[in-house]
Amino acid sequence: MLGWDYSREFKCLANQRITDRLVRGSRDLNVVVIGTGYVGLVTGAVFADLGNDVVCVDKDSLKIEDLERGKMPIFEPGLEEMVKRNHADARLHFTTELKSAVQGGEVLFIAVPTPSKGDGGSDLSAVREVATGIARAMNGYKVVVNKSTVPVGTGDLVRRIISEHKVWSGEFDVVSNPEFLREGSAIQDTLRPDRIVIGAPSKSVAMTLLELYAPLERPMLITDVESAEIIKYASNCFLAARISFINLVADLCEQAGADVLQVAKGMGYDQRIGPQFLDAGLGFGGSCFPKDLESLIHTMRKYSIDPVLLEAAWKINQERVPRFFRKMTAVLGELEGKTIALLGLAFKPNTDDIRKAKAMELLKLLLDSGATVRAYDPQAMPRARELYPAVQYCDSVYEAATGADALVVATEWNEFRHMNLRRIRDVMRVPILFDPRNIYYSERYQKMGFVYHGMGRKAANSVQ
Ligand code: UGA
Repeated sequence: MLGWDYSREFKCLANQRITDRLVRGSRDLNVVVIGTGYVGLVTGAVFADLGNDVVCVDKDSLKIEDLERGKMPIFEPGLEEMVKRNHADARLHFTTELKSAVQGGEVLFIAVPTPSKGDGGSDLSAVREVATGIARAMNGYKVVVNKSTVPVGTGDLVRRIISEHKVWSGEFDVVSNPEFLREGSAIQDTLRPDRIVIGAPSKSVAMTLLELYAPLERPMLITDVESAEIIKYASNCFLAARISFINLVADLCEQAGADVLQVAKGMGYDQRIGPQFLDAGLGFGGSCFPKDLESLIHTMRKYSIDPVLLEAAWKINQERVPRFFRKMTAVLGELEGKTIALLGLAFKPNTDDIRKAKAMELLKLLLDSGATVRAYDPQAMPRARELYPAVQYCDSVYEAATGADALVVATEWNEFRHMNLRRIRDVMRVPILFDPRNIYYSERYQKMGFVYHGMGRKAANSVQ
């Protein structure tokens, strides 16, 4: 079992190895990233940008063709430019051929989806498939790295699958190196992570990853594989629970005549608490927190541990949108025949991702109630249109607001913070502003004639 911090002694060792390589004039590492989703593509681009030779593999040939042509499968600030630059410099390659990629690689990252199964557990079929493919292609020593978010024990599973299927008689190692990047700031998070966690079976195996990450000069923690796997879930679920906690407090604030923005600020000044992830609102969505919370609950039950705290966080989150919707109907009455302007569809700003987006959940409730929805989002409309073609998608916030009986800001894009609310008021039929992300503070809006409803702020003091 390992369990030591990235000590000075260890850092010196890594630096020595890097210096040795430079003196020998050897090349940087050959890295293979399997899976070109959010994590895989960003990881591949950043490693290439650090000077490594990177091959990104995906079985989706259309995606690979698009990437070859410089077309990104997702919107992520800075990604397109980084991919194009490294591809043009021949450090970043795309292929559907797993076998040749594996044979040419030294470090193989598995970055494939691990979606929820019906029972809340993680579907590891893509991980299993890739592990089997690696085993069949392996022709020399490889370090296989689990980058996907996978339940504790998956490193061991991957090791067993490779051992069972490998045709090569030599050794290999399996490492857990969880990813902590956030959508919308993925490049920045990967270049400047708060920490890099390397769960490895031995010091020398950890060293390979350490060399790879050394140029970032960020804190590194070397652990055993299982601890690294749990660090990922514990971190995501802790943040999710924090959001549910502040949302629960928001409900109290609303009833008791307090303002959750002030309460969160007062809590956040305590250095033991800190200010981040205390934004009350519609709750957490996206492809990570909901899935990871379900998966950790499932894992806890598997080990006969009562996940009561996690279940509460889940339940609170499930109630956010229905609760807010009830508030809307209490203000607006019957929604049938009313027109609602919905600003924001993505699960958070700076992304086009609508997976488990709270804005989409709200959109569905609005449509089911018979309201006409005029929606606008800077990036997510094409994806939303595929699911809900009946919505009136607009080219601007002003177009969406035109003739509306109420306006809801469901995703806190910067563009919405700076819109001309006087102009909005003038084009709306009724100037009712629902602000469940609490992005508007100023008394200005009330003075302008808006009826304002925030989240966790009593109506009278909700506009300061
Ligand atoms: C999350 C983690 O923050 C990353 O560290 C992790 O790498 C990633 O999951 C993952 O596992 O891949 P992400 O889902 O991209 O990243 O987005 P976050 O910024 O964490 O937001 C998640 C959700 O929480 C969003 O719906 C957001 O609106 C909501 N949120 C966030 C709040 O409701 N309140 C807050 O104060 C903060």
